[in-house]
Amino acid sequence: MNKVSVVFVTPKTSNGMKTLKEYIKKAEEEGKAIGHFNISNIEGLWAVFNAAKNLSTPVIVGVSEGERDAIGLKQAVALVKSIKEEYFFPIFINADHSYTFERVRDAIDAGYDMVIFDGAKLSMEENMREMLRCVEYARKVSSPVLIEAELGFIGQSSKIIDVIPEGVSEETQTKPEDAKKFFEDTGIDAFAPSIGNVHGIVRGGNPKLNIERIKQIKEVIDIPLVLHGASGIPDEEIKSAINAGISVIHFNTELRVAYMSALREYITKNSDESTPYKITKTAMEAMQKVVDAKIRLFNGL
Ligand code: G3H
Ligand code: ZN
Repeated sequence: MNKVSVVFVTPKTSNGMKTLKEYIKKAEEEGKAIGHFNISNIEGLWAVFNAAKNLSTPVIVGVSEGERDAIGLKQAVALVKSIKEEYFFPIFINADHSYTFERVRDAIDAGYDMVIFDGAKLSMEENMREMLRCVEYARKVSSPVLIEAELGFIGQSSKIIDVIPEGVSEETQTKPEDAKKFFEDTGIDAFAPSIGNVHGIVRGGNPKLNIERIKQIKEVIDIPLVLHGASGIPDEEIKSAINAGISVIHFNTELRVAYMSALREYITKNSDESTPYKITKTAMEAMQKVVDAKIRLFNGL
């Protein structure tokens, strides 16, 4: 294992911490990216935090609509906040893939650091119209929340899939001119394009990332670009994506698969065990290993 030489965590003052926006900017300036890892339960949260803390890198915890319904909309924020305060550590929470304005509004009110309105399945006009409502709401209530947009469909399932989801193709990848219009007309803080990425791991191999397209989009919009659907993408492509302008990277499926494989193995070997926290320990460690490897990759560690 490489020796860790880069310390990312530098609080601005003794009683303050950089904002998520500032951490993302710093990562970008240093040619790195911040990891965003989805969780469904407390084991996931500890797995993400432990890995990030060991490597002293800021991290974003993501909860989709289903994941935050499972943990609790406000409870997820409270858990992350409690870790942030107890350890004085830059851990942030994102309301991932919110499909309606109401879901975005509820997440902003609950104190999320970042919220994604996912209108990728809508027409660009509808997507922009709903996005504008989200941005206006965030500014009206003076929330420091970052608002992310999705343009270009990349599928919706974080699981192993047999084929590339219908509606995802080279033709539907995000065009730089559309990205520019979207950004200028809505005032979003971060942008998730479709550039060959898909949610989930495709059996037989994920499509190749369109690195040139990332560069073209980055040239026309000066806000953080977010890579969704990073599970199943080879390390070298992830590195090229960071060099091309990606500064936040989302992983979910690889963590879920690691968790479930370890859990199945443990239960098979220890069929008499009935203590939940003992049963899930190796599964949590398996997720932590995945997060550790990804953070090292994003930071050249
Ligand atoms: O927002 C979540 C991520 O985009 C998950 O993608 O399941 O392919 O890792 P993934
Ligand atoms: Zn995603």
